Formats: sequence, C-alpha cells, structure tokens
Amino acid sequence: MTQPDLSSIDAATIAINQRMNKFDGHEQVWLFGYGSLIYKADFPYIERRAASIEGWTRRFWQGSHDHRGTPLAPGRVVTLVPQAGAVCDGMAYLITPEVFAHLDHREKNGYLRLATDITFDDGSKVEGLVYIANEENAAFLGAASEFDIARQIARSSGPSGPNSDYLLHLASALRELGKADPHVFAIEQHLAQLRETPATDPTP
Ligand code: SIN
Repeated sequence: MTQPDLSSIDAATIAINQRMNKFDGHEQVWLFGYGSLIYKADFPYIERRAASIEGWTRRFWQGSHDHRGTPLAPGRVVTLVPQAGAVCDGMAYLITPEVFAHLDHREKNGYLRLATDITFDDGSKVEGLVYIANEENAAFLGAASEFDIARQIARSSGPSGPNSDYLLHLASALRELGKADPHVFAIEQHLAQLRETPATDPTP
C-alpha cells in the first residue's frame, strides 16, 4: 500500500487554514474546543467559558498520525460529524489572532477552521471558530464500533503519548464540566474492560 505523503497533506491543511479570512481585522476571536482543546490549553487565552455548538456530534473517527499514533499505526482522536439536532459540549476560549499560527500547526493533521455559532452555558451566543476534520481529509478513518475504537486506542501511541491518555483526559474533562457524552464514555468503559482482561495468545 502506498503511504500518503503526510507532510505535504499537513502543509496543505495549514495553507487552507491561513487563507480563512472570516475574522480578519478582529482583535479577539472565540475558539470552540471539543477534544484535546478542552483539557490541554497550551496557548495564551483571555477568557475561557464552558460552551456548546449545535448540529454536530463528537466522534472518535479521525486518525492521528502525528500526536497519538504513527503514520503506519494511526491512533484515533475526535472530530465532529454533522447530526441534526445534536449538541456538542466543550470549552470556548477567547484568543487573539496571533494564536492561530500555533493552533494551525497543532491541528494540521486534517482539521480545518470553520465559523460556527457558539452558545455559552448562560444561553448567550457568539460567532466563533472550531477546527473540524471532515470525511474528505486523508487521515479520516470513519465509523467503527465503540469496542473496536477502544481496541485501536489501547494499542496506539505517538509523539504526544499513549492514545488512551487522550481518551481518559477527554472523558474526565467532560465530567469536570458536568457533561455526558455516551460515545466517549462507552469507549472509556470498553478500554477499562480491555485492561482488566489479560491478552490471550490464540496460538496453542
Ligand atoms: C478540538 O479539541 O477542538 C479539536 C480536536 C483535538 O485537537 O483533539
């Protein structure tokens, strides 16, 4: 199987994001995070507030070759998939435009900036940005059973650490926010069961 040229895909993703000019001239922009951006804010921000966006659901359907896996053995991380009536809970950060250089690099494995309405927990709304890896990006893995996703996460690791840390940090960050996500929590439970069951060798 030919390997995709990941560095040129990453560069193309960054270039598309840099051309996104929707908020040009704004001194501050709200960014909505729903995955590692909830629990790992490695960038300066002015304010941070629990928030949600509508019409999207969180799924472990995006491959990670650069953070939680490798090009030959990708891990799984979350992206958002459109779903009518769905609400995705997360964290919104008020940032200055200079922060996008760092974020574009961090999210370069297929995540594109998209403008979205963000609803804060007090019901007020603002227009901001979210990074979404859609099904057309080369790293997209798509649907699998929550058990198979847990198995892939259990065996994957990359430069940012074990894939299981990503899942467990996300699940506990959602609990700290007082939010439930059945998909994330089901995968977390499968992972816990996999860790309890010793691996069996199928050969006699
Ligand atoms: C996000 O957290 O908003 C994007 C996905 C990720 O970086 O995990």
